[in-house]
Amino acid sequence: MAHLFNRNIVLGVSGGIAAYKSAELVRQLKELGADVRVIMTRGSQEFITPLTLQALSGHPVHTDLLDADAELGMGHIELARWADLLIIAPATADLLARLASGRADDLLTTVALATAAPKLVAPAMNQQMWRDPATASNVATLNSRGIALIGPASGEQACGDVGPGRMEQPTNIAQAAAALFTRGVLAGQRVVITAGPTREALDPVRYLSNHSSGKMGYALAAAAVDAGASVTLVSGPVHLATPGHVTRVDVTSAAEMLEASLALLPACDLFIACAAVADYRPLAIAQQKLKKGAMRMTLELERTTDILAAVSASPQAPFTVGFAAETHDVERYARGKLEQKNLHMIVANDVSDTAIGFNSDNNAVIVFWPDGHQALPAASKANIARQLITLIAQRMEGRGD
Ligand code: C5P
Repeated sequence: MAHLFNRNIVLGVSGGIAAYKSAELVRQLKELGADVRVIMTRGSQEFITPLTLQALSGHPVHTDLLDADAELGMGHIELARWADLLIIAPATADLLARLASGRADDLLTTVALATAAPKLVAPAMNQQMWRDPATASNVATLNSRGIALIGPASGEQACGDVGPGRMEQPTNIAQAAAALFTRGVLAGQRVVITAGPTREALDPVRYLSNHSSGKMGYALAAAAVDAGASVTLVSGPVHLATPGHVTRVDVTSAAEMLEASLALLPACDLFIACAAVADYRPLAIAQQKLKKGAMRMTLELERTTDILAAVSASPQAPFTVGFAAETHDVERYARGKLEQKNLHMIVANDVSDTAIGFNSDNNAVIVFWPDGHQALPAASKANIARQLITLIAQRMEGRGD
């Protein structure tokens, strides 16, 4: 069933008689698991009090753009960033006009401009106002910007008219909101992604590591969340913010990454090994800082466990996807790893090309599976991640179990 667990919703309420239904909408959104913060326009407060929506949402209601006290708490930019979804219900004809023209003359329209979150708008107005060409043109503008509209429904109106203009029922708005997050190709799947480098200690202050930035793994985590999955990142040390709704487990060494990955297997449907794991670690970690002396020194190293191979060999093996960073003979080496590590898919990239790969924001890959392959030409890592998630979901579905 569609739900809104862990989702932050800003509900904007504008000044129409349907504002009284917003109280029920807040309740329904909370019931589906969302955390709801309400913004009310000045007009809406003539129809319903902030106190009602504060009691139902469990948070103070936001009303003013230029309120120094409110800005000290959660200001308009924080609200805009906090939101995973902005719902405006009811949206009056005036509000649609202000949204369409990009105005920022109150808190609600300012947050609407300042947020990157998707928007779901439920218009409510007199049927003649809804039919007016000015409103129709504003609606077309909002549609063209990818803003989702729900309703209005038709029927008898508060003013006595009959026709389109009634706000959509709160239950339908809440369900539409939940559906926005569960439509993805990985809906309901539990995904574990390893990312970043590992560090293998030599002594208390030194380690062996590599240049992996973690960007590809983090982009995959964000894309998997967008595709409806619940995602855990097992991350080596990186300088990246955790994508929204991702659970992050921080590890340092290959051994820690192995342990964390295996512990997650009982609740894992898809394992993507994106980390650049050290293949060798020092045989012994010096207890004290190694002192310089001789002109040469030899380090003795031992192999680390291959995490991905261990996952695919486990009795609880999920769908497994590996990465292969190659400098030459990309297909031969990638297919070799696909087979040796017993994987469902492998994503190969040519790291001899400095425009893509490790620290770059771009990547280009070829994905191989036992009876096929597909090239994904150079694009941002976010874009490649979205394409990979789609491809992986297709292969998982085609597996038939
Ligand atoms: O064999 P190679 O290191 O090239 O394989 C790369 C793939 O294997 C990547 O998906 C990487 O995350 C994974 N790997 C691993 N554990 C290791 C070494 C590599 O999971 N110790």
